[in-house]
Amino acid sequence: MQIAFDRPDKKNAITADMYAAMADALVQATADTAVRSVLFHGSEQVFTAGNDLQDFLANPPQGEASPVFRFLHGISRFAKPLVAAVNGPAVGVGTTMLLHCDLVYAGESARFSTPFAQLGLCPEAASSLLLPGIVGLQRAAQMLLLGEMVGARQACEMGFVNAVVADGDTISHALSKARILASLPASSMRATKQLLRAGQQQAIDAQMTAEGQLFRQMLSSPEAREAFTAFLEKRKPDFSRFS
Ligand code: COA
Repeated sequence: MQIAFDRPDKKNAITADMYAAMADALVQATADTAVRSVLFHGSEQVFTAGNDLQDFLANPPQGEASPVFRFLHGISRFAKPLVAAVNGPAVGVGTTMLLHCDLVYAGESARFSTPFAQLGLCPEAASSLLLPGIVGLQRAAQMLLLGEMVGARQACEMGFVNAVVADGDTISHALSKARILASLPASSMRATKQLLRAGQQQAIDAQMTAEGQLFRQMLSSPEAREAFTAFLEKRKPDFSRFS
């Protein structure tokens, strides 16, 4: 199965409806024995600009049953192989969702950023646990506190991207890997995934829940409102009045 972000006019920013559709697709992929791997991709220009900030302001997620959390729990517990092909920006959840994928391929243009603090928010998708585990505490702080952008080669060196390929080849390259996984014994794929994640699954669930509670609170904070409004008004946010 392929799940594609396809909202080019908004840089594939993800709305609640899109999260719901992806969460439903993962449920369907779990039930359908003909689906043996799942590939996420965007376009050749952009993976995704992350949460749609306008939609987040208008319809903030209310709890664990909300589409965004259904999607995040869905990918973190997905039993079949998950592959991602990334070109251009992968912002916020565009990067953190990759930490739940088994194989990630990046085009030369791929750039990864997790600007939660810059938006008056905190990390989500268990990234505050998984990212330092992969890249180390200081480099995770560089991404999660400073919000610094990481290029394709750096992401590969840091360990959350498997390989860098030419932009025009990213999706076909990732698709060929997804097809290899689909051709292998489904039982071995399930068992291996389960073993790879088993030691961490409880911790991932707990961290995602803790992050989610904080994230929802912070979403209605004046700092987040200022950051979101500033983005939509195309100006720099001013956090100086908040202590
Ligand atoms: N939510 C809502 N709208 C978004 C969006 C988002 N996350 N990201 C981009 N858009 C919209 C822009 O508002 C703009 O809309 P407009 O044409 O109606 O003005 C359009 O998509 C194009 O975006 P633009 O910023 O002009 O494209 P760019 O190529 O210069 O930059 C990004 C691309 C992804 C680097 C930039 O759009 C960006 O930083 N987006 C915000 C990312 C973000 O903070 N995500 C939330 C993480 S939790």
